[in-house]
Amino acid sequence: MHAVGIVAAAGSGLRLGADRPKALVLLAGRPLVAWAVESLRAGGVAEVLVAVPADERAAFAGALPADVRLVTGGASRTASVRAALAAVEPRADAVLVHDAARPLTPPDVIARVLAALAAGAPAVVPVLPVVDTTVTVDADGWITSAPERATLRRVQTPQGFARDVLVAGYDRLPAGADLTDDAAVVRAAGTSVVTVPGDERAAKVTVAHDLALAEAQVRR
Ligand code: CTP
Ligand code: MG
Repeated sequence: MHAVGIVAAAGSGLRLGADRPKALVLLAGRPLVAWAVESLRAGGVAEVLVAVPADERAAFAGALPADVRLVTGGASRTASVRAALAAVEPRADAVLVHDAARPLTPPDVIARVLAALAAGAPAVVPVLPVVDTTVTVDADGWITSAPERATLRRVQTPQGFARDVLVAGYDRLPAGADLTDDAAVVRAAGTSVVTVPGDERAAKVTVAHDLALAEAQVRR
């Protein structure tokens, strides 16, 4: 199986509020995007494309190994992944889509995603159980339902796909569509998505507190 990695790194990181795009923020002296690329490689994905902000190509080139290809991202995560996917050569038979914002994803998670693809799954996501009671609310904040917790999962990345399945999913998706992950793209096209165990260490850096936790994780 020839798997190619896409790292979505074209966001601005508004919630983190740093002085640069989130993917370039340093964790233990190294940009988040470099950690994310390295973890894909450690998990067995040698070839990686990174979607970057249009005006930051030079900074990303300086932050990443020379053999990593950079693609100009878009206005949403969906648009960024779409752009990177268009640059994946057809001889790849699997694509793993990862967030630069998950710098410390253990290689085992990537290996589990690859193994499920190799076993024939068309789409794979790493997940974790939900520990809090989770509810839906209306616009005024009143609870409208409480899904049974045992059936809920938190979805992480990298998410893995047979390349033709992901390409077909994005082809069907309307131009301006903005979905929160790639599993949603293929599910909208009717593809079943299997889950494998994720890892707490693959947590997403969204706000400053998450970065502090990641720093502590590196020190450990
Ligand atoms: N992303 C992207 N292109 C965009 C928006 C997001 O490639 N137009 C990427 C981010 O770089 C990040 C991942 O998608 O690695 C997950 O998005 P998120 O955590 O929301 O990052 P940001 O959009 O950068 O942060 P914020 O929403 O706080 O601005
Ligand atoms: Mg965002």
